[in-house]
Amino acid sequence: MNRLLKFITCGSVDDGKSTLIGHMLYDAKLIFTDQEKALELDSKVGSRGGEIDYSLLLDGLMAEREQGITIDVAYRYFTTEKRSFIVADTPGHEEYTRNMAVGASFAELAVILVDATQGVLVQTRRHTRICALMGIEHFVFAVNKMDLIQYGKERFEKISREIRMMVAEYDFASVMIMPVSATEGDNVTKKTSHMPWYQGPALLSYLEEIDVDKKETARGFTMPVQRVCRPNHTFRGFQGQIESGSIHIGDEITALPSGEKATVKEILDAGEKATEAQKGHAVTISLDKEVDVSRGCVLVKDAKSVISNLFTVRLLWMDDSYLVPGKNYLLKLGTKTVPAVVMNIKYKIDANTGKEIYADTIYKNEIAECDISVSDKIVAEKFSANHSLGSLILIDRITNMTSACGVVMKALHRGENLVWQKMDISREFRAQQKGQTPKTIWFTGLSGAGKSTVANELEKRLVAIGKHTILLDGDNVRMGLNKNLGFKEADRIENIRRVAEVAKLMNDAGLIVITSFITPYERDRKRVREIIGEEDVIEVYISTPLEECERRDVKGLYKKARAGEIPDFTGISSGYDIPENPDITIDTTSVSVEEAAERLLAFIEKQV
Ligand code: ADX
Repeated sequence: MNRLLKFITCGSVDDGKSTLIGHMLYDAKLIFTDQEKALELDSKVGSRGGEIDYSLLLDGLMAEREQGITIDVAYRYFTTEKRSFIVADTPGHEEYTRNMAVGASFAELAVILVDATQGVLVQTRRHTRICALMGIEHFVFAVNKMDLIQYGKERFEKISREIRMMVAEYDFASVMIMPVSATEGDNVTKKTSHMPWYQGPALLSYLEEIDVDKKETARGFTMPVQRVCRPNHTFRGFQGQIESGSIHIGDEITALPSGEKATVKEILDAGEKATEAQKGHAVTISLDKEVDVSRGCVLVKDAKSVISNLFTVRLLWMDDSYLVPGKNYLLKLGTKTVPAVVMNIKYKIDANTGKEIYADTIYKNEIAECDISVSDKIVAEKFSANHSLGSLILIDRITNMTSACGVVMKALHRGENLVWQKMDISREFRAQQKGQTPKTIWFTGLSGAGKSTVANELEKRLVAIGKHTILLDGDNVRMGLNKNLGFKEADRIENIRRVAEVAKLMNDAGLIVITSFITPYERDRKRVREIIGEEDVIEVYISTPLEECERRDVKGLYKKARAGEIPDFTGISSGYDIPENPDITIDTTSVSVEEAAERLLAFIEKQV
């Protein structure tokens, strides 16, 4: 018996996808008797004039979909005498691209339906591209509805040429093109007599026989570490699944990213002692000496793994909210999860045509090539060389939802030749000299909430008790350093990033920094803490409600915004996330500026 084959079927409703799978299950006697009876009865009143309508078998799944399941990929399991299968059935329309990607990410082979009466369509190209993006290397193009074109050989050959031209840009391991009729059952499970000119096998026989295992010979050994296990003080083992290559006792491995080398002393394969282990096996490896390894590290031998904090990746955007550069996510690759920022969108790729298109935002179901920077150096490989160390997901830090899946195209080495210069005069020294603990007091709140006024009063009080301070104010910084930034989301993100970096430098100089910026997005406030240091930020939320800010309208901006003269105005036509855990909250509706500053000083004084 051949090993389990996982495949996906791609096609639109009218292509006959459901009928094809339905027919396979029916012919191979893979459905239960009661389902069979129901099918015959349903078909009597169906669209095929009493003939069996095999698509009805899968329509139950369609109903499930209509109930609005978020990622609706239907998996069906079936077994023939020669092989077991799992097939992922996903909707084919453009708006379901991400569902197809989810299905494709699990599959080893794709069956793509092509309507013989129509030939290669835009959607055929899209389905192929998405499957290729998700790493599928084996393709079957089932040219369906051959009965409607009188089983014509010429027409089939013309479509075959179109398909061959389309796949020429990819490097697939196998491509099979076969003429079928899903409704009539031609070449589905049995070879048909209607097309004596076709020499190849029927679809099911082909799927039963195909070998989709990668040729592992040239691959190095890689094992992302899932867990460090230490049952007693004499044993320390690294557990994980071997993602490529094989390992023997006595082999020298390198632990990445530290680069330390050691020799394999012991291998446990599924709990049993072994002398070697292969790709796909979950093992525990112990080494002849102590090396710096924790979860997220990778053990390698002769592999092409790279260590970097900057990558070019191809992303399929899956989130309802769109992507703008500068936004902060969590990136999961292998067993490692790290904060990451999409630095820039290089271009988006039209899934239908493959064309590269300029874009500054990416919407749901779109594919784009982007540069991503991660906070720590991570170990990765090109997706084409290693699927598990070359694929990633981006997780929204607020909702915890998967925002995108993607693959690594290459590592960038821009930051590689920069070396942090050590200075003799340290941050601690500079702080000591000024007799204070440098902190950044980060004000957030709506325009007109009173941030700048209270910040100003607070600074005066800090100076009065002998502190050395600097006040960075939104309007002022935007007239100089951030002159080139406006108020679109991407600009605000960059505004806050720059100010956080400046605040950090000034903290390094020993100063207490007070900032007054709207900072409307929670994820940016989180990033501020990451840049400056969790311990060094005091977040002050000036929570004066919108109605009050608008009533005061000190700068007259709300009036203009209401009149439509200022676009993207916070609170009116642009959002403000209520801070999740500010260190202190003050509403200036009920408190005077002096009182607010006193309260803040009392809170801050002990910390600086
Ligand atoms: S932030 O969102 O990027 O943090 P920042 O605090 O620098 O904003 O700038 C806000 C100030 O810019 C406001 O106090 C207001 O004076 C001015 N401003 C001009 N246009 C806008 C706008 N569209 N939205 C908010 N503030 C604006």
